[in-house]
Amino acid sequence: MEEVKVVSYGVGAVGSLIAKTLLEKSGVKVVGAIDVAKDKVGRDLGEFLGLKKLGITISNDTDTVLSKTKPDIVVHATSSYLKDTYSQIASIVKHGVDVISTCEELSYPYHSEPKLAKELDELAKKHGATVVGTGINPGFLMDTLVITLTAVCQKIEKIEAVRVMNAATRRLPFQRKIGAGLTVEEFRQKIEGGEITGHVGLEQSIAMIADALAWKLDGIRAEPVEPVIAKQPVKSDFITVETGKVAGLRQRAKGMVKGREVIVLDFQAYIGAEEEYDAITITGVPTVRQKIQPCIHGDTGTVAMVINAIPKVLNAPAGLLTMKDLPVPSAALEDMRKYLKA
Ligand SMILES: NC(=O)c1ccc[n+]([C@@H]2O[C@H](COP(=O)([O-])OP(=O)(O)OC[C@H]3O[C@@H](n4cnc5c(N)ncnc54)[C@H](OP(=O)(O)O)[C@@H]3O)[C@@H](O)[C@H]2O)c1
Repeated sequence: MEEVKVVSYGVGAVGSLIAKTLLEKSGVKVVGAIDVAKDKVGRDLGEFLGLKKLGITISNDTDTVLSKTKPDIVVHATSSYLKDTYSQIASIVKHGVDVISTCEELSYPYHSEPKLAKELDELAKKHGATVVGTGINPGFLMDTLVITLTAVCQKIEKIEAVRVMNAATRRLPFQRKIGAGLTVEEFRQKIEGGEITGHVGLEQSIAMIADALAWKLDGIRAEPVEPVIAKQPVKSDFITVETGKVAGLRQRAKGMVKGREVIVLDFQAYIGAEEEYDAITITGVPTVRQKIQPCIHGDTGTVAMVINAIPKVLNAPAGLLTMKDLPVPSAALEDMRKYLKA
């Protein structure tokens, strides 16, 4: 069997890590790279990644790359909202090629973008392609893992998931994205201006959990993004946060039934978090408490989620699917071809 041919679409922070990891994997061949950034287009992918020359030129012409390379799958990592990524994903699907994307909204688009989700599903089925949005969060920690843990419950009253990250251990762009080092006023201005959007995906995760349990929610309430204020000076390798300034952010979203909070997701990312963890509490019969310490690193986990999903997506039927529709997630550590259905 031939190696699985993959095109990397979007070679930014996450896409580059995915491409680098794919280049080391057996049973996979990176055959093309797409991006629009001026500093990337025209460069050799290998050299751009700090590796040896590969003879793969980063291109902004999706049609030409896909027609020439005929990949089995595209790994896509450009932006968070489906309205921005729809045309990019549609242009891949039209070639009959499967897509795994880190677009947060695509992880469960039926809540915020039902029309686009339906259109994409129809387009994918028409062209025999499978589309899945995944990543560490959304994609796993606050949805797929939660859903999996509910399997041992006979009754459930409430589900809570908390992710606490010490942003000091993350990239500078991430620290900027969460407003670290700003004054509270600057933080609020950037939130208003849309420069800081906070974490995207809490509502998608809640909708996915509710649908898996066939819970009809009265609504999903996303609370405003709040700054986490430094109580003492804290610092990362890049930023020093003085007392009273913003160390990062906290966001909560709640799934409601008859005025009762039945699903609560709590995302916290700030410089100086003493304890990093991913915790899930399912109150029910039995009550389940699960805690991962330290929390899973977002980049590492996202790269793994995307690559490990490749064989499951290639084996899946056509259409827009979500993590809830794929088989139980697992690592694909061996030659990628070993996981493919004959
Ligand atoms: N689900 C999850 O758990 C998860 C985890 C990590 C990341 N994500 C999401 O994945 C996305 C990518 O993350 P990142 O950190 O790698 O972002 P990034 O560093 O900004 O990289 C995105 C790259 O895609 C390029 N791009 C933008 N629009 C494009 C288009 N139409 N066609 C081709 N390339 C395009 C960008 O170019 P320009 O710089 O010129 O715009 C940039 O080079 C983000 O939305 C992020 O929030 C999700």
